[in-house]
Amino acid sequence: MLAAQTFAFAASCLLGLTRGLDIGLSTKCVVIPKELGMCHDVGYSEMRLPNLMGHTSLAEVISKAADWSHLLQTGCHPFARTFVCSLFAPVCLDTFIQPCRSVCLAVRRSCAPVLACHGHSWPASLDCERIPAGEDMCLAPLSKEEEYIYKEFPKPTCQGCPAVEDAFSYTAVLEAFCHSNFALKAKLVKRKADSGGPEYGIEGQVEFINQGLLLPYDTRNLIQQWLLINESCAQRMTRSNRSIVYIMVGDVKQGKVFISRLYHWQRRDSQLILATRKWRHHKC
Ligand SMILES: *[C@@H]1O[C@H](CO)[C@@H](O)[C@H](O)[C@H]1NC(C)=O
Ligand SMILES: *[C@@H]1O[C@H](CO)[C@@H](O)[C@H](O)[C@H]1NC(C)=O
Repeated sequence: MLAAQTFAFAASCLLGLTRGLDIGLSTKCVVIPKELGMCHDVGYSEMRLPNLMGHTSLAEVISKAADWSHLLQTGCHPFARTFVCSLFAPVCLDTFIQPCRSVCLAVRRSCAPVLACHGHSWPASLDCERIPAGEDMCLAPLSKEEEYIYKEFPKPTCQGCPAVEDAFSYTAVLEAFCHSNFALKAKLVKRKADSGGPEYGIEGQVEFINQGLLLPYDTRNLIQQWLLINESCAQRMTRSNRSIVYIMVGDVKQGKVFISRLYHWQRRDSQLILATRKWRHHKC
């Protein structure tokens, strides 16, 4: 929602500014097709074709955009969707409005590691250096504060899946809490997404046992991103039609979050319950 509001604001500011070339003759406005679901809710319903990626037909737009929808689902950057949609489905104004270079750079900084985790590099067609550096005729420049905040948010690391611990005593769990930065409790679910593929998520709130360096208001989102950065972990950790509660223990190093241990929370597991109860008064 943030992106759409920002877009609407930026677009209304820019309308007054855009002079520029008449592109009405060589391009046309079309309704954003329903297959391009990631660009619905961006604050407008018609797009220019050819778009800024040089795609000339809707079929081409839809097929090329498919690669991006998974990345956008990871929530790698709050402006990622606005950015990608401004290229794939540019708003139908009198002139093309490019995304700002600062937005491209910020999105690349956050999202390139996610692509790398999936074995892809940042595409050459989205080279931020090709976007003009000026900030006054472009879409949704990031303010210095926003840039700072997103840079500082802890981000999930591309990692192998931590094993789920099995036999352990409460003292071993306390020991593990002592040797890591944070511990939290989250209920994970797998539901059928509208698009057909499995979708992994968190049900309810994330509960801190030890907050460490995590930010309370961003942690749910962070764990969600962590689940999607290496989906094979999410797949292992969830079951269809049944939510599973985990204690997730990990570290934050240089803004990167690494999950080191997982415990499966079960009501009858007295060792785990004992450990979380004793933690409050425990001295490491
Ligand atoms: C994702 O997790 C699996 C299972 O632990 C691991 O084999 C794979 O290397 C991980 N992927 C990346 C890119 O780290
Ligand atoms: C999950 O629930 C849906 C609908 O309730 C059902 O159609 C499906 O067969 C269930 N899947 C499993 C694996 O039990």
